[in-house]
Amino acid sequence: MARSSWQTVDGAFAAAPDEAAFWTGRTFDDFLFRPQKTDSLTRRNISVNSLLTAGVALDLPIVSSNMDSVTGADMARAMAMHGGIGVVHRGMSIARQASEVAVVKRSQSAVIVSPLCLPAGTPIRQARRFARQNGITGILIETASGSNVLAGLLSNRDTPVHSADEDRPVDDFMTPLSRLVTGAPDISTDEAERLMFEHRIERLPLIDGANRIHGLITRRDIDLKRERPGASKDSAGHLRCAAAVGARGDYLERAAALLEAGADLLFIDIAHGHSAIMEQAVAGLRGKFGSVPLVCGNVATGAGARFMRDIGADAVKVGVGPGRGCRTRLETAAGVPQLQAIREAYLAVGDSVPIMADGGVKTDKDIFLALICGASTVMLGSALSGTDEAPGHVIEDPATHMKKKLYRGMTSPEAVMETLYDSGSSEELDAALETPPEGQEIQVPYRGSVSSILQRIRGHLQSSVSYGGEITLAAVREKVLPDPSRFLVPLSAAARIESYER
Ligand code: XMP
Repeated sequence: MARSSWQTVDGAFAAAPDEAAFWTGRTFDDFLFRPQKTDSLTRRNISVNSLLTAGVALDLPIVSSNMDSVTGADMARAMAMHGGIGVVHRGMSIARQASEVAVVKRSQSAVIVSPLCLPAGTPIRQARRFARQNGITGILIETASGSNVLAGLLSNRDTPVHSADEDRPVDDFMTPLSRLVTGAPDISTDEAERLMFEHRIERLPLIDGANRIHGLITRRDIDLKRERPGASKDSAGHLRCAAAVGARGDYLERAAALLEAGADLLFIDIAHGHSAIMEQAVAGLRGKFGSVPLVCGNVATGAGARFMRDIGADAVKVGVGPGRGCRTRLETAAGVPQLQAIREAYLAVGDSVPIMADGGVKTDKDIFLALICGASTVMLGSALSGTDEAPGHVIEDPATHMKKKLYRGMTSPEAVMETLYDSGSSEELDAALETPPEGQEIQVPYRGSVSSILQRIRGHLQSSVSYGGEITLAAVREKVLPDPSRFLVPLSAAARIESYER
C-alpha cells in the first residue's frame, strides 16, 4: 500500500490505517462496506460468477460443507442446480459415498449416457430397492444381464403396490419395447422434446438399429436444463459434484471409488492442513491420480496458504475454528479470526490459487465481505443446515412443537460414533477416537427447501455488488482486493449495535 497517497475510495479520509492493526483480530461483524455509486438500473442481471479452481467457475460462489448433517446427494444436487457445488461428506462407507456421488452425476443432463439397467426377470422387490438406492424413477430393462439390448422400461407408475406382486418379474409390468417410443442415438434435444410432447411421455430411451441402448432422455432433465442455465455442469452436461477424502488410512481407495463414480473434485479435509500429513496425502493422490482437481484445507495463516499452493492444491480452504459446530478455539486456543485469516491468505498467495473461505458465516453480508477481502468462494455449513436437502430427520420439540434438525461438527462425539458404525473401522477413525472432540451437536430450526436459501443468498450478493458500484462480482473484487481498507468501515461497539441489533 502506498501510504503517502492513501485515501478512502471516496476521499473521506486521507490517513492510512496501519495495515496490521486494521486486520488483526477482525472478523465479519467488524466492518461495513462503503456504498459506491452505481449506474446499473436493475440488480437481477448482476453476475456473481467466481472461480472455484483456476479451471472451474461457479455461477454462485457457494459450496456446501462436507459434513454429515449438511451434504449428501440431495444437497449436492441442489447446490449444483443453483450454480454452486456440494461436497459429499466422508462419514460413511466408501461404497455408499461413491453411490451418493453417482446419484448426483446421473441426475441432470439432457442425455443420460449410461442409464441404469436391470435384466429381464428381475423381481419387482429388487427393482424397487434399486430405484430407491439410485434415486431414479424409471429403469431400463435389458434382455439379459449385460446385454445392453433394450427389452422395456419400468417406471414408478408401472410398479405394483401390493406385496403379493413383490416376487413377480419386472417383465409383467414394464412397457415392452414393442410399445415404447424411442429415439436415435444422435437425436437433438429439440427433436427429443418434440417426440416426448407428441406422445405425452416422460422418458425417451435412445437405441440403435440393433436395439442397443445408447442413452436416455427425461423430460425432467430437459425442463431443468432450460430453467437453470447457470447450473454447475461438467463438459458432458452432468451436474458437478465434489467429494471429501481424508489424508490417511483408506483415502486412496476412497478417492479411486469417488473418481470412478464421477466426482469432479476431491476435497482433502483435515482440521490442521498445514501439516506433513497433508503434504504426504497430496503427493499420494497426485502420484495415483495425476492432475485431479484437489481442494485442500484447512489453514488459517498466510504461511499455511502458501504451503498449500506449493504442495499443489488447486484451491486452498481457509478457516480454523470459526464454524458453528466447532470447539477448536475453545479447546485448543488455535485459530485466527476468519476475515483476518482470509486476508492473510490472500496477501500470501494473491491470485495464484483461489481461496475458499470456510466457516463462520452467520448472515449473507459475511459472504460478500469474505469475497472482497480475498476469498473466491465461500463454504457454508450451518447456513444450509436444517433444510430438506440436508441429511437427517426433522424432529419436533415436544414442549414447543417447533420443528428442528440436527447440525453437528464432524469431530463431535455423535458424528465420530456414527461414522464408526457406518464405515467400519479404520486407522483414521481410531485416531479420531483417540483425540478429544473439537466439535459439538446442536439443534437448528427446520427451514424447508435449501432452494429458497440459495436464491436469497444470490439476491443479497447481487445487491452487495450493486452497492459496490459494479455489475459483476469480479469487477468489485478487482476494485477492492488490492486494498479493502479503502472500502471498509471499522465498527465501534456502538456502531455494531446500531448495525446488527434488531
Ligand atoms: P459453519 O459456520 O458454516 O462452519 O457452520 C462449517 C465448517 O465448520 C468446520 N467444521 C468443524 N470444525 N470441529 C471444527 O473445529 C468440527 O467438529 C467441525 N466440523 C465442521 C468445517 O470446516 C465446516 O465446513
